[in-house]
Amino acid sequence: MAIQNEKELAGRAAAELVASGNIVGLGTGSTAYFAVVALGERGKSGLKIIGIPTSDGTAELARAVGIPLSTLDEHPEIDITIDGADEIDPQLRLIKGGGGALLREKIIATASKKMVVVADSTKIVPALGRFPLPVEIIPFARAVLQRKITALGANCSLRTRSGGAAFVTDEGHHILDCSFGKIADPPALAQTLSNMPGVVEHGLFIGIAKVALVGKGSTVAEIRPESSRKRALAKRARPRRARQKQKLRKRRRS
Ligand code: 5RP
Repeated sequence: MAIQNEKELAGRAAAELVASGNIVGLGTGSTAYFAVVALGERGKSGLKIIGIPTSDGTAELARAVGIPLSTLDEHPEIDITIDGADEIDPQLRLIKGGGGALLREKIIATASKKMVVVADSTKIVPALGRFPLPVEIIPFARAVLQRKITALGANCSLRTRSGGAAFVTDEGHHILDCSFGKIADPPALAQTLSNMPGVVEHGLFIGIAKVALVGKGSTVAEIRPESSRKRALAKRARPRRARQKQKLRKRRRS
């Protein structure tokens, strides 16, 4: 129940960042759900937006709460996307795809001026990898990819539905859930997976999210990547005279 409340706080806080006229990427999952519902409510009080859903399920929810929908063909540039995550590390690198929508989610997030991650506090981790990394694959390549990814040190299993049949994504692919344990170098792993023929996309989102709103008890914490926090702190700490000198030097150079 506490986690549910954190999800709702985060989802609703993110919905407040949306302005009238925005094209909005609508995420998938139990946290993004609250953002979509809140956007539907704001729509009833006059907010005018167009939603681009990241899954068929989210499209259905958005229609039910009265959000007008469109497509990437009509709106290839999105103002803001609000989406959940399975894990968030201090650099705001994510594991996504627990809900099976990672391909459309990544396409929409990378077509957005801003991706806002919404999550409960359990999603914050010191390093990615506790959650099995979803890898969306062409069904034809399953056995080959399972061998190759296992050779990288993961334990891979084909995602199935409750009856045992393979889970099929909205784009008609399968998912391998790959438990790596702690992922030492997420960008390197992302590159290795992307290079494998038959891998359509993987759930590592690196350098995409700029801010996360994370429910913590009864509050929402705003988290930015550690690197950008360090840059901001360093800027604040630099004495005024040094900053003025640097400005002068820049002006002279231009
Ligand atoms: C779906 C996702 C979800 O955003 C992710 O699984 C988090 O879901 P939830 O908010 O339900 O914990 O990536 O593909």
